[in-house]
Amino acid sequence: MDDQTKPDVTIRTLAAQGPGAHERITRAVTQPIHMSATFLRDADNRYPAGHVYGRTDNVSVQQAESLIAALEGAEETFLFGSGMAAATSVLLALAKPTHIIASQVMYWGFRSWLRDIGRYGHCVSFVETSDLDAVRAEVRPGETGLFWIETPSNPLWTISDIAAICEIAHAAGAIVCVDSTVATPIFTRPLAFGADIVMHSATKYLNGHSDVVAGALATARDGPLWSNIRKLRGQLGNALSAFDAWLLMRGMRTLDIRVKSQARTAATLAARLVGHAAVSEVLYPGLEHHAGHRTALRQMSGGFGGMFSIRVKKGENAAIAVAAAVNLWKRATSFGGIESLIEHRASIEGEGSPCPGDLLRFSAGLEDADELYGDLIRALAVAV
Ligand SMILES: Cc1ncc(COP(=O)(O)O)c(C=O)c1O
Repeated sequence: MDDQTKPDVTIRTLAAQGPGAHERITRAVTQPIHMSATFLRDADNRYPAGHVYGRTDNVSVQQAESLIAALEGAEETFLFGSGMAAATSVLLALAKPTHIIASQVMYWGFRSWLRDIGRYGHCVSFVETSDLDAVRAEVRPGETGLFWIETPSNPLWTISDIAAICEIAHAAGAIVCVDSTVATPIFTRPLAFGADIVMHSATKYLNGHSDVVAGALATARDGPLWSNIRKLRGQLGNALSAFDAWLLMRGMRTLDIRVKSQARTAATLAARLVGHAAVSEVLYPGLEHHAGHRTALRQMSGGFGGMFSIRVKKGENAAIAVAAAVNLWKRATSFGGIESLIEHRASIEGEGSPCPGDLLRFSAGLEDADELYGDLIRALAVAV
């Protein structure tokens, strides 16, 4: 990854310096984009630099992968063309029919894909993974092979105890994969709590500028499942493109400063909205009354993330009217970019979603927190 030995530095410094201090040949401080789809063999029929073919072997992608591995404390990271490509690769790589325990509250797109997992010979139990007794009750000895948890989870921001779930899972011989998209390695490093694989929709905070769709898997150690993931990625060709990897790398260099600022804004707005006449509930793990707050304190350090939700007292139509009345907040799906987004979540999640109709989801961006608050308060007036 680097052209000099990396000192033992903070995550903030690691991210800021990206793949190294400079590129070797020109001494440019920014890395070039490596577009080559193929690489030369020497006359002795070998590949002297170890690079063979672009589907699995792109230097820009490898640089971004190395940085994510360093941020997560992982042995290896793979980047994919989307978060969904990363997440589904874990399931597609399972070697035998497996019972999967998955968070009841999670990104709806992956939940709906998991619901149809029977077509691949697996089965899934959706469980409230913030409830450890419920998790224990669902374990099927000899059958449960994978736990898929998302924490904080979309869009209620429920918190699952990573260390405790890893203990339950490992005692059952199962692997734990954590979708840590919302926490980012700045606030939580799931591998340090015992998780086997961390997954990110890098489309969100890792890139942070709403201009790349990407996904990442980072593993604590190589093993049979990880080797299958590596093989599948080569066969399916669903790796990230060089240009997207370069943009992602550029985005990650400001990761620490961005997510801490976004988390500060989310915390400020969530606290100010508690008790507002139009709001029945504010959902944010940084609030003391949030059911997951104590667990969040244990496994999130430096902030509770930039996402929060509110429930609008007057119901679904009033919530949609509030979303229609904002100016600064942008009405769009996704999150984690520099621009603040508002979304009536039930409109996109569809059937079977645990998301209440009166819920509005907010992604705090980098705008001025007071201006965002003022805009939202004006909009909430339509629902009082
Ligand atoms: C928590 C979470 N995981 C995974 C995904 C899927 O990622 P992508 O949209 O990059 O495929 C999303 C997308 O919104 C998400 O919010």
